[in-house]
Amino acid sequence: MEDKIISIIGSYDKDPERLMDILLSIQHEFGCVSEIAVSVIARELGLSEVDVVQTRSFYHFFTVEPVGKYAVYFNNSVVSMMMGMQDVMNEFEQLTGIRIGEKTNDGLVSLHTTACIGMSDQEPAALINNVVFTRLNPDKAKKIFEDMKAGIPVEDMIGDTGDGNNAHPLVRAMVSNNIQKAGPVTLGDYYEGISLKKALQMNPKNIIDEVKASNLRGRGGAGFPTGLKMLFCSLNEGDKYVICNADEGEPGTFKDRVLLTERLPMIFEGMTISAKGIGAKEGILYLRYEYKYLRAYAESVLEELRSKNMLGKNILGTGFDFDIRIQSGAGAYVCGEESALIESSEGKRGEPRNRPPFPVQSGYKHKPTVINNVETFCSIVKIIEVGGLWYSKLGTADSAGTKLLSISGDIPKPGVYEIEWGMTVNEMLEMVEATDVQAVQMSGPSGLCINPTQFDRKIAMEDLACGGSVIVIGKQRDILKDVVLNFMEFFEDESCGSCVTCRSFNMILAKQMKKVVEGHATRNDLKNMKEWSKIIASTSRCGLGQTSSNPITSTLANFPELYEARTVDVAYQSDFDMDKAIQEACEVVGRPARVPHHN
Ligand SMILES: Cc1cc2nc3c(=O)[nH]c(=O)nc-3n(C[C@H](O)[C@H](O)[C@H](O)COP(=O)(O)O)c2cc1C
Ligand code: SF4
Repeated sequence: MEDKIISIIGSYDKDPERLMDILLSIQHEFGCVSEIAVSVIARELGLSEVDVVQTRSFYHFFTVEPVGKYAVYFNNSVVSMMMGMQDVMNEFEQLTGIRIGEKTNDGLVSLHTTACIGMSDQEPAALINNVVFTRLNPDKAKKIFEDMKAGIPVEDMIGDTGDGNNAHPLVRAMVSNNIQKAGPVTLGDYYEGISLKKALQMNPKNIIDEVKASNLRGRGGAGFPTGLKMLFCSLNEGDKYVICNADEGEPGTFKDRVLLTERLPMIFEGMTISAKGIGAKEGILYLRYEYKYLRAYAESVLEELRSKNMLGKNILGTGFDFDIRIQSGAGAYVCGEESALIESSEGKRGEPRNRPPFPVQSGYKHKPTVINNVETFCSIVKIIEVGGLWYSKLGTADSAGTKLLSISGDIPKPGVYEIEWGMTVNEMLEMVEATDVQAVQMSGPSGLCINPTQFDRKIAMEDLACGGSVIVIGKQRDILKDVVLNFMEFFEDESCGSCVTCRSFNMILAKQMKKVVEGHATRNDLKNMKEWSKIIASTSRCGLGQTSSNPITSTLANFPELYEARTVDVAYQSDFDMDKAIQEACEVVGRPARVPHHN
């Protein structure tokens, strides 16, 4: 065992900054990262055992004890649970005779839960040894368990897996991506290499000017102007880096999965153009662990681009060098936050950094770094191909271009829709043929839960911002139990724990929400929940804590009657003005009110 561990460490040049990859390889090889492995890693990398344990303990998919030969990770996020995951989990527990969190005595199966795996269009879904199983039900569970007992490898369980089995080498052929509506930018025609050739002939300043002219704003949620980000980075001295954020973890979003399977060469082309613009030589695609099944495919695309001289040294004979490596995550929603992602890429716990300095000043390896969302890089390619002016005319004045929405929940055609910014929620609901809608959860848990009186609002940065997740909630749903409680438990689990308020109040809010759902909460509890929500929003270091109370504050504001119906003693009166509360919180910390931040 020790020899194997040493050889894995050697394959990463004994570089402590590659600790994540080393741990991932060891977890893959031995089914866990044991205490012995920790000692060997620490010794070989010249780290303390505490350093190694700190990183191991941070991520969901590293385990101290070996997982089962078949490690089943059920997605327990909102849409999966809405679509019947509880029945599937019950069936597996019954079949295996173990509870979630346990392993069978013979080591055959272990059962776990995990947050959204980016399959909300095909729920209920689970990962078994990194293979996606979709549209599960108790009958499929029985068949899968039979196959497990027969020792059939997960990749060969075709037929059990539904549309989502993407362990196949031709991953694109096997993934059902549910592209319901392609638009002119990211899911429109893509001509490989055209934009790159053009950009390589351009002066870096002109590349940045073209992106600025497009008015493109980042598609990860915060909506920062992409051209400005490139400009700020380019003005700094020293080595520079380009990072693509493919950590897509916001419950309900899966649009980056679609781009990663349908438009991977376009993503890499966008990164290369950005690198030329800012003067970077190295790039990283940070791929969330839940998309590990895409890694081999992604490596093959990189190889192909290198063989076409579209990556590597002297790209297309222009003297420009740039290459990309893939960094896998290991399961932590907060790593989607850009500075946490950078920490993780350096082999550490994914704890967000204090900002400033921003990544454009001090990012990966403390060098100037541009970090953008997958969709943003695809948009850059189109902008260079067709021109910033053309792009700026799509959408609205403040939100140029198109946006990919991952639309799921109680609708007949869940999937990815490329829309122009400015579409109203009503128009969106008509497009997806939704009926009997009680609420729409815009931009995932960190966004807002809106009621039908707000369906005439525009999906745009200046009105209803959206990073990509749209969950349609039908009239049959219990919003407080099925949605808000699930979201609050999600934030409780995903807080990195650095800020006292985020760590403790998210836990308290989840408990209080349970109390509401069970019908024991009082009016005083609701008052406290409002106060705590304000405190978390105003005192947390990163966007997770700054928005984690949104599920409560937005439903208190938009669905007060649901709380009233469940509150004991005095009836709850909605005197809560969320916009005012956010404004007040922002004043406390001296920054402008923010929009929901990501996908
Ligand atoms: C908790 C948290 C999770 C995030 N997750 C993602 C993500 O999965 N993908 C993403 O692109 N941005 C995510 N973001 C936003 C990033 O911090 C960052 O703003 C973004 O990657 C910048 O790219 P853009 O300018 O192209 O949007 C997240 C932010 C927070 C606070
Ligand atoms: S707000 Fe929460 S997730 Fe963000 S740094 Fe603080 S504790 Fe960590």
